[in-house]
Amino acid sequence: MLVRYKKNCEKIAMGLLSFMPQEKDLKKLQETIHTYENNPNWHLFLWKKGEDFVGLIGLEVSEKVCLIQHITVTPSHRGDGIGKEMVSKVKVFFPCTEIIAAESTKRFYDKCLKQQEGTDD
Ligand SMILES: CC(C)(COP(=O)(O)OP(=O)(O)OC[C@H]1O[C@@H](n2cnc3c(N)ncnc32)[C@H](O)[C@@H]1OP(=O)(O)O)[C@@H](O)C(=O)NCCC(=O)NCCS
Repeated sequence: MLVRYKKNCEKIAMGLLSFMPQEKDLKKLQETIHTYENNPNWHLFLWKKGEDFVGLIGLEVSEKVCLIQHITVTPSHRGDGIGKEMVSKVKVFFPCTEIIAAESTKRFYDKCLKQQEGTDD
């Protein structure tokens, strides 16, 4: 289930964000979480499985476009379809926007699109 980030999950969110290659540095990580907490156009969601938060997707949203800035899944839950499911659930929160990927999430998002189109080999 995709749920909105809340401040009481900050440590968990930072742990998940740190799986992104560009978020390894603590200072950068703190800046990123600060942006999600304070910029009204930046939206952070966590994937809840049972009692655990095992995935994260972060979006920069404008009137027409939803840019996927971050996507991560905890290593022990990778390959179970959570990443693809988080991408597909973005539409539930932002039905009228086109979903696109930032450079940092493009490889995985392209994979999702190919699989949706049935052109993945
Ligand atoms: C990318 C990530 C979120 C995928 O999550 P996941 O829940 O394992 O993904 P799913 O189970 O929905 O999909 C798995 C598929 O995505 C592919 N995949 C995984 N990481 C990928 C990547 N970085 N680029 C392209 N494809 C990727 C897998 O090979 C697999 O392919 P298959 O369906 O043909 O077997 C996860 O691997 C992760 O957290 N990586 C570290 C963070 C990161 O680098 N994020 C940016 C990715 S561009």
